[in-house]
Amino acid sequence: MRTRDAIDALRRPLRNLRLSVTDRCNLRCSYCMPEDTYAWLPTPEILRFEEIAALVDRFIAVGVRKVRLTGGEPLVRKDLPALIRMLALKPLDELTLTTNGILLEELCGELKAAGLTRVTVSLDTQSRARFLKLARRDLHAQVLAGISAARRVGLPVKLDTVLIHGVNDDEVVTMLDFAAEHDAELRFIEYMDVGGATHWSMGQVVSRKEILDRLAVKVGPVEALPGRGSAPAERFRLPDGRAFGIIASTTQPFCAACDRARLTADGQLLTCLYATKGLDLKGALRRGDSPAALEQLLLDTWGKRSDRGAEERLALREARGPLATQSELRAQPHLEMHTRGG
Ligand code: GTP
Ligand code: 5AD
Ligand code: SF4
Repeated sequence: MRTRDAIDALRRPLRNLRLSVTDRCNLRCSYCMPEDTYAWLPTPEILRFEEIAALVDRFIAVGVRKVRLTGGEPLVRKDLPALIRMLALKPLDELTLTTNGILLEELCGELKAAGLTRVTVSLDTQSRARFLKLARRDLHAQVLAGISAARRVGLPVKLDTVLIHGVNDDEVVTMLDFAAEHDAELRFIEYMDVGGATHWSMGQVVSRKEILDRLAVKVGPVEALPGRGSAPAERFRLPDGRAFGIIASTTQPFCAACDRARLTADGQLLTCLYATKGLDLKGALRRGDSPAALEQLLLDTWGKRSDRGAEERLALREARGPLATQSELRAQPHLEMHTRGG
């Protein structure tokens, strides 16, 4: 039942919830988990499925229409299809998942049957050797098999490609070809200076402008498509009609239209990808707050929100560097992208 819509201090509604179901991951991508060891969230702190479902009801009551499961790697969470079955019963427009694809071949049939509406797979390269270097596990073939299997069972697929200078910036056209062959829409993502990206520098970022300039030379004029709304991706069309997206969060932030909240696996609510403080929703739930009290807490917290994290990062200009050092991340794992959901 809808209570009333949460609206923040900049008049932005709360429509999207990114729900991290685990901080664990079975890859070690250099832009996200470059270190050898990490401080993990303690198991008793992780929300149980019933707790997640109860909180999702409260988010829906204040306006959420789309839920995306993230991680870490969400498919390493035991029994994930059971959670999807619970969430699929809720009045949502979309129930999606962002995965690195390693376990997708094995699980896609169950995910589809459970009610997942779409899957986004991270894939940064067509090269097995590059994948090994980038993700530090020799599992490229498994990701490709996962993408094919997802399409076979009828799950719509989007692909996310983070482009980095000197790593995979020569793959713009080949990645688009791969996406077309697999009936998937590709989005290029600018490398972001988020928590966890401890080796980030502006020089490594392949900007939206550079991607478009490169495509103009290689495949001809690219047309911008209207109707972006609050989506992070701007969509474009190639001369042959193929559509793709660019998520230019680093050089052209879209904070003004941001309608996303994040819930970490241990129940902390973050109102921005770059937020340094969260709200302990799990604490409120476990101490027995009523549904109405939880909804009021969401309304109040979102009502005060004025976050414009990516815009503030952009304003740093030359002073821009990684959001947090390795020792800051150790002390505050909630700053990590793999804890707050990619
Ligand atoms: P759909 O297109 O509806 O499938 O979802 P989406 O565009 O939100 O895609 P997805 O969840 O896969 O997000 C893709 C990427 O967008 C993430 O990996 C981030 O790099 C970026 N992104 C997502 N949410 C935010 C956000 O709140 N702020 C910023 N700055 N970037 C975000
Ligand atoms: N920059 C851009 N995207 C990132 N992701 C994780 N770390 C970064 C980063 N530093 C995104 C990737 C990955 C998703 C789970 O999170 O898109 O596909
Ligand atoms: Fe890579 Fe995603 Fe795992 Fe981070 S959480 S290491 S981006 S697969």
